[in-house]
Amino acid sequence: MDMEAVHPSAPSPIQFRDIPEAGIDRALSLAYLAFHQSPEDEKRKHNHDLLLGCTRVGAYDGDELVGFLAAFPFTVSVPGGELPCPGITFVSVAPTHRRRGVLSGMIAELFAKAVAEASPIAALWASEDAIYGRFGFGVATYGNTVEIDSRRPLALRIAPDDRPLRLVDPSDVPDLLGPYYDRTRADRPGRLARTEAWWREEWMVTEDEEDDELSPPRIVTLGTPGSPGSPVGPGTPGSPPPGIAGYAIYRTKARDDAPGLVRLDDLEADTPAAAAALWRYLASIDLTGVVQAWGRPLDDPLLLFAADRDQVRVTGQFPGLWVRLVDVRAALTARSWAAPVDVVIDVRDDHLPANAGRHRLTASPDGCTYERTDRPADLTLDVRDLAAAYLGGTGTDALVRAGLAQEHTPGTTAALDAALRTARLPHTVDEF
Ligand SMILES: CC(C)(COP(=O)(O)OP(=O)(O)OC[C@H]1O[C@@H](n2cnc3c(N)ncnc32)[C@H](O)[C@@H]1OP(=O)(O)O)[C@@H](O)C(=O)NCCC(=O)NCCS
Repeated sequence: MDMEAVHPSAPSPIQFRDIPEAGIDRALSLAYLAFHQSPEDEKRKHNHDLLLGCTRVGAYDGDELVGFLAAFPFTVSVPGGELPCPGITFVSVAPTHRRRGVLSGMIAELFAKAVAEASPIAALWASEDAIYGRFGFGVATYGNTVEIDSRRPLALRIAPDDRPLRLVDPSDVPDLLGPYYDRTRADRPGRLARTEAWWREEWMVTEDEEDDELSPPRIVTLGTPGSPGSPVGPGTPGSPPPGIAGYAIYRTKARDDAPGLVRLDDLEADTPAAAAALWRYLASIDLTGVVQAWGRPLDDPLLLFAADRDQVRVTGQFPGLWVRLVDVRAALTARSWAAPVDVVIDVRDDHLPANAGRHRLTASPDGCTYERTDRPADLTLDVRDLAAAYLGGTGTDALVRAGLAQEHTPGTTAALDAALRTARLPHTVDEF
């Protein structure tokens, strides 16, 4: 695709085009400038390697690179399936060129690429929440920060699974846990597929990006990976390795002024009892007195089976994955629907007019159609709010009650929310 384009609102002619491989170093320097970072050579090389596999959009003032964004070629789970999804990252504009439409131009380029490549959605994690709503991104998943006081045994209302716990070598994790994790993606919309490289370079790196005092990643499984005939039963061809009923990935840190810390990064389990066993393990590691879990699902069963909610506290909630419905029709027809619905929605979309206007959405568990119509609208909403509802995380009724959407026909949001509903809340673990 020809990537030359001139953004009309920029005062000097900023040009937007792909950044070639030879330009990655320059792009990284711009990103480090914008994010006030001066990483060591090893980190720079790591980012360079990551960017080799990314879409790279540059904004140029003459020959000078003044804006940069990258997009990972992710696959994200949506209700009933998964979709290709550019994952936008490294968003950087030179301090000399801010507020001149450089970001707006780069986002427009990225959207054009997504349309051309038939990626109906795009996504990002925002370091500043105020930026991306205007471009039609809505918060599709949320995370909870959970803290467990583990100076005393974790009090549980259910009996933990008593299968053995095993520590796994990080180098074995992509093979051993990859298939297990893949299976869990079907349960939760908003989950990223993890390639082997992603497992190794993002999850298993020895030094934590934000805290170099943390230990390397520790990986514990419930059940013995790969053991045929273990209590979870034999495997079938193409199924995850038998033997694992759950896993946790965590790091630890000794502290002089406070009890040692267990920082949990990921925990998946087949059953409540398996989850209970993993949480109990994390809370019982010697020389530690607190478990901090970042980004847990809002409907984490721990919050119900913990016997003492003074011991297990939700200390924060934050937006996770911001989703953009780049092609609303393709996105809506690609997901599954939990109940029948037949409504006309009027969508506002200032950036991608092909999405705007009245459409009849007819959906049921058997499929979905979404066609333009002249019929009056039952519901009016902005594309960013439709994105917030898309994975089942935010109800359209809640949007109406917040004054963000307008229900013209009573009963519309009730029917729509029953159809949009997912068994479990959407959730994203992988931040990028
Ligand atoms: C944030 C950043 C990318 C914005 O780039 P920019 O080229 O100045 O943005 P634009 O000129 O295209 O602005 C588009 C709109 O977004 C608004 N906007 C931009 N940055 C904003 C911010 N940090 N907070 C709130 N609004 C913001 C602008 O005011 C403008 O609004 P308008 O259309 O109503 O006039 C840039 O300032 C930057 O690189 N910052 C440091 C790195 C960073 O924070 N990256 C984002 C990581 S998620």
